[in-house]
Amino acid sequence: MSLGNADNAVQLQNVWFSYEGRNHALQDISLNIKSGSSTVIVGSSGSGKTTLLKIINGLLKPQQGSVRVFGIDISDEQKRIVRRSIGYIPQQLGLLRNSTVLQNVLVGGLARMGSASAILGIYPEHEIKHAMRCIEQVGIGHKTHERVHRLSGGERQRVAIARALMQKPSIILADEFTSDLDYVTAHEMLDLMGEIRRNGVTLILVTHNLELAAQHGEKIVFLKGGMKIAESHSKDVTEETMKTLV
Ligand SMILES: Nc1ncnc2c1ncn2[C@@H]1O[C@H](COP(=O)(O)OP(=O)(O)OP(=O)(O)O)[C@@H](O)[C@H]1O
Ligand SMILES: [Mg+2]
Repeated sequence: MSLGNADNAVQLQNVWFSYEGRNHALQDISLNIKSGSSTVIVGSSGSGKTTLLKIINGLLKPQQGSVRVFGIDISDEQKRIVRRSIGYIPQQLGLLRNSTVLQNVLVGGLARMGSASAILGIYPEHEIKHAMRCIEQVGIGHKTHERVHRLSGGERQRVAIARALMQKPSIILADEFTSDLDYVTAHEMLDLMGEIRRNGVTLILVTHNLELAAQHGEKIVFLKGGMKIAESHSKDVTEETMKTLV
């Protein structure tokens, strides 16, 4: 979708967030993410990575500070349009285990197709074709009609990526989506994300895996205790530095 040609896909300014009655989960975060770039967010468990992604896609609203996506403040009424441009792959993937790959991927297009498709499960022919293209793109065309609970971990990740692609996103946020995968599959998944990025999608990935972060992100953002403690070009960061930071 077209949301103008803003240089920054995401711009956070002095964002503060706390869950009700809790200490700050995010403290004074300012962050610019360039359109078409690939950013990896690293930090130990509880450092605020998931919270940060949810702030970016508007699932959570900061108590202070502003969030702009392609230059549009997501707190105003255009929020829905902006949110549609963000494909979100949650930490637990959020797939319908008893539904087929195709049914899961079609869910990614529901915001565009409207409530009749959602309720009746009837989809326009061109949307089904698009879903099948997304499934092919992630390399599991042969599993299109397989139920998700019968797939391997890596294949499920691919379904989640295809569902995000179905949205025709400008940005993809992926939360720890390599964490349950073996080394080879994790790299395959990140190579696939690299390919998606070359098609112009801005990527924001969260990981615990420092090595993957260094290899696949252009920029690395370090979180600790809800604060952004550093931000660096991945080529300037050695694994030793990362270990001391996280
Ligand atoms: N729904 C919630 N209600 C209250 N507190 C929460 C909630 N979700 C997260 N928190 C708290 O906010 C802080 C940041 O959590 P967050 O899930 O963003 O961390 P994370 O870096 O994604 O951790 P992990 O690597 O374990 O996924 C933690 O202290 C956590 O306990
Ligand atoms: Mg998390």
